[in-house]
Amino acid sequence: MDSIITISAHGDNFIYLYRYNQSDALAVDPSESSLVLRTLQEHGLSLRTILITHHHWDHVAGTADLKQKTGCKIIGADKRRIPGIDLVVEDGRILMIADRKVRVIATPGHTRTSVCYYMEPSAGNKNGILWTGDTLFIGGCGRLLECDANTMWKSLQRLASLPEDTLVYCGHDYTLENYEFASDIEPGNQDVKERLDQIRQILRQGRLTVPSSILKERTMNCFLRAGTPEMKAALGMPAAKAVEVFAELRRRKDVF
Ligand SMILES: [Fe+2]
Repeated sequence: MDSIITISAHGDNFIYLYRYNQSDALAVDPSESSLVLRTLQEHGLSLRTILITHHHWDHVAGTADLKQKTGCKIIGADKRRIPGIDLVVEDGRILMIADRKVRVIATPGHTRTSVCYYMEPSAGNKNGILWTGDTLFIGGCGRLLECDANTMWKSLQRLASLPEDTLVYCGHDYTLENYEFASDIEPGNQDVKERLDQIRQILRQGRLTVPSSILKERTMNCFLRAGTPEMKAALGMPAAKAVEVFAELRRRKDVF
């Protein structure tokens, strides 16, 4: 079985190492090279490939050093803004990591060139894996820095349509803040309240809130629930379209 090592960096960033072939590793958004090098050494792993979800410094800062020290290859979707990039990928591109297919999903919204990486299930691994960068967070979504709400909404819908048992690994640990926001929006929602309590307990125990699953996000992430009658009612927008509710939620979260 393949496995994933999660490394916390810069306070709230998550770096992921995906281990395969016993001693090979793939890194996603390795923003602190020293942490990654130390973890590789502790686990006896060789870094082969880096996947970048988007060009922001807190996702790419460690790549040049890692490339120089390990000879790994850097893959991403933004030729101009990702330093040291070796392979530029676009929507629908399939990468092979050992016997597993990784599909590039273009998810503009947070930035124009953001992508997510979906690793399909395989013979020995029944769950797919989704690395979402700053597009989909656990209970939340990224800020709209370079695109409009409509664009981000479409990107989120693509992610939400993946198999429900897909494991979701996001770029930041904003889970608690996201559920505090959700609970503020829907104070009477018992599911949100229970989830918030659960998140607080997980964090108190020093555990991580990743991975989530597509099913959990589809049913509990307030942004993905923008099309539901409950969310429309909570915002006082009963006749609005899902994307309008989404835009309003994002606007309120920006100032929460
Ligand atoms: Fe970002």
